[in-house]
Amino acid sequence: MTRTIYRLSKTVKFKRIMVVSLCLSLVLLLALGGLSIYTIGVVSERREMEEALSRKSVELSRMEQDAAAKQNQWEEQLSAVQGQLDDATTEQSRLDATIQSQSQEISKLLGGKTSKTTASKTTKKTTVKKPTGKKMVALTFDDGPGRYTEKLLDALKERNAKATFFVLGQLVDRYPDLIKRMDAEGHVVGSHSYDHPNLTKLTYAQIKKNMDKAAKKINKLIGHDPEVIRCPGGSSNDTVKKYAKNAGVPIIYWNVDTLDWKSRNTQKILEEAFDVETGIEDGDIVLMHDIYDTTVDAAIEMMDRLIAEGYTLVTVPELLEAYEGTIVAGKVY
Ligand code: NI
Repeated sequence: MTRTIYRLSKTVKFKRIMVVSLCLSLVLLLALGGLSIYTIGVVSERREMEEALSRKSVELSRMEQDAAAKQNQWEEQLSAVQGQLDDATTEQSRLDATIQSQSQEISKLLGGKTSKTTASKTTKKTTVKKPTGKKMVALTFDDGPGRYTEKLLDALKERNAKATFFVLGQLVDRYPDLIKRMDAEGHVVGSHSYDHPNLTKLTYAQIKKNMDKAAKKINKLIGHDPEVIRCPGGSSNDTVKKYAKNAGVPIIYWNVDTLDWKSRNTQKILEEAFDVETGIEDGDIVLMHDIYDTTVDAAIEMMDRLIAEGYTLVTVPELLEAYEGTIVAGKVY
């Protein structure tokens, strides 16, 4: 009986052990299963995040490319617009000049008096010149700066030649480096007004407002006001002279008109400049416009010829000091 009980209890014990170990392995299996499911979940989530991240970075780089392309496009458009603006300014000054020359012709046809400020081949302005023992000429460039001015500055530098630039105030902000370079390389930055109006049609206050606006723009870049001015179209009257006198600047006219704006032809410009009767002589001031490529090409050849003929290429103030002595504010030279 006791043996039976003992056996029975042994079987029961065995069964208990079996049940317990089964339970334990089940728990272990469940834990392992859970862990692996969790791990798989984490890994796949991470992969998804990485994929999303790489998609985003691809998107970002595409956006950057798009932005760069757009910027390029805008820059191209901007430079195209600037080119058009240059052309418009050029066209405007050309028209101004045409109007002036036509009104000159009309007044001649009508037998009227030719105004003091008109340039013509037959009335070459001759100033009283002191012999200096040195042949000098002052090349002057109006209506700029423009797209070809840099080439001109390079050529002047190579030849150690100086020039005078009568710039338009409205173009100063578009070419600040060129204005600074002119001054730094010994050229003279003169004023040709802010936006090329006929000054003789303006009141004193209007002249002052226009000229002062240009002077301020120039001063900001070179540290002083322009020391010489040239009236648009060369047209001046007593009101303009009064302004110049008060501003302390002389008004600069010219002796030789190359008519470069009219011909736009390098060869013709040179023919005008070296014309036997009306061409360049010692002490002359030569009118050109650095907004035309034909003019810049002609000016470069002109410099070489003048230097070969023994001329020194000087600024207008240098020429006036040598030939006139004192420079008088408000006086037309
Ligand atoms: Ni002009």
